[in-house]
Amino acid sequence: MSATPVAFEDWFAARARHVETVLDQALPEASLVPPVLHQAMRYATLGGGKRVRAVLVYAAGEASLPPETPVSAQEIALDQAAAAVELVHAYSLVHDDLPCMDGDTLRRGQPTVHVRFGEAVALLVGDALQPLAFDLLSQMPVAPALIAQATQILARAAGSQGMAGGQAIDCTSVGRTLTSEELQVMHAMKTGAMLEASVLLGGVVAGASSTVRQGLEDYAAAIGLAFQVVDDILDVTADTATLGKTAGKDAVVDKPTYVSVLGVTRSRELLESLRAQAHDALRPLGSASHRLAEVADFIVGRDH
Ligand code: IPE
Ligand code: IPE
Ligand code: MG
Ligand code: MG
Ligand code: MG
Repeated sequence: MSATPVAFEDWFAARARHVETVLDQALPEASLVPPVLHQAMRYATLGGGKRVRAVLVYAAGEASLPPETPVSAQEIALDQAAAAVELVHAYSLVHDDLPCMDGDTLRRGQPTVHVRFGEAVALLVGDALQPLAFDLLSQMPVAPALIAQATQILARAAGSQGMAGGQAIDCTSVGRTLTSEELQVMHAMKTGAMLEASVLLGGVVAGASSTVRQGLEDYAAAIGLAFQVVDDILDVTADTATLGKTAGKDAVVDKPTYVSVLGVTRSRELLESLRAQAHDALRPLGSASHRLAEVADFIVGRDH
């Protein structure tokens, strides 16, 4: 008798709840010296966020485990990788919201970290969350060569040719008109890189074969870009209460976005082709990749 399949929404929610407990345990307690920094790190990381990056780690892990591998063998390592990507992501949001960057006051439905704790602490929260992520990767109970690969994946995704580099392009592009090629590079770097890293980390930790890794890379490039295209669309179509961040901000500060360059209709067409690319890329992976396919649909169809 086969078990009843778990609905995507329930599977996603369970994974998101699970990584929350991993993050809770990985973050230093708020009472530890210096309490203000530890409180702010916990405030920035816990109790909010969709946890899409963590969910991608788990889904890619599921898709990559060789047949008959008991999932428990890699469970701890996947947890640590999932928490690591969420820590780097949380840091990137804290810095993204600073007055010197996007100057936002609302994040995940709460005052941003610099509003609540001050700019100096917000800067330090990022400084501290990022190394904590690498500390977690260093503890993964997998072969040292896999830890080295995982470290390189996350370091490159977060660095000057990934997220930080994309943020630099973003900051220096305000008020400018970008071509769609330039926009694609900026989005692939500032947002796509960390989503790609999430997928690849899940694959590496679970011991993906080279065929599976190629499929994961192609899938991740498509959904990574799609994620930021949707973010740009939601900025104009959704409201502040739904988003938990101030809607309509991109146009107010004159950011080049997919909406400003292509308009909403063509951006949605692009999303459909990215969704198809993501599904095509998973074909060689077979049924083990069904959660990744569902996450692609979630990313394209999300409303917040
Ligand atoms: C927001 O990311 C910033 C972008 C890279 C577009 P998310 O939409 O994943 O934010 P949370 O983690 O759910 O709050
Ligand atoms: C943020 O892009 C990308 C990173 C945090 C790296 P946005 O500036 O569009 O994200 P939101 O809209 O503030 O969440
Ligand atoms: Mg930004
Ligand atoms: Mg922003
Ligand atoms: Mg945005």
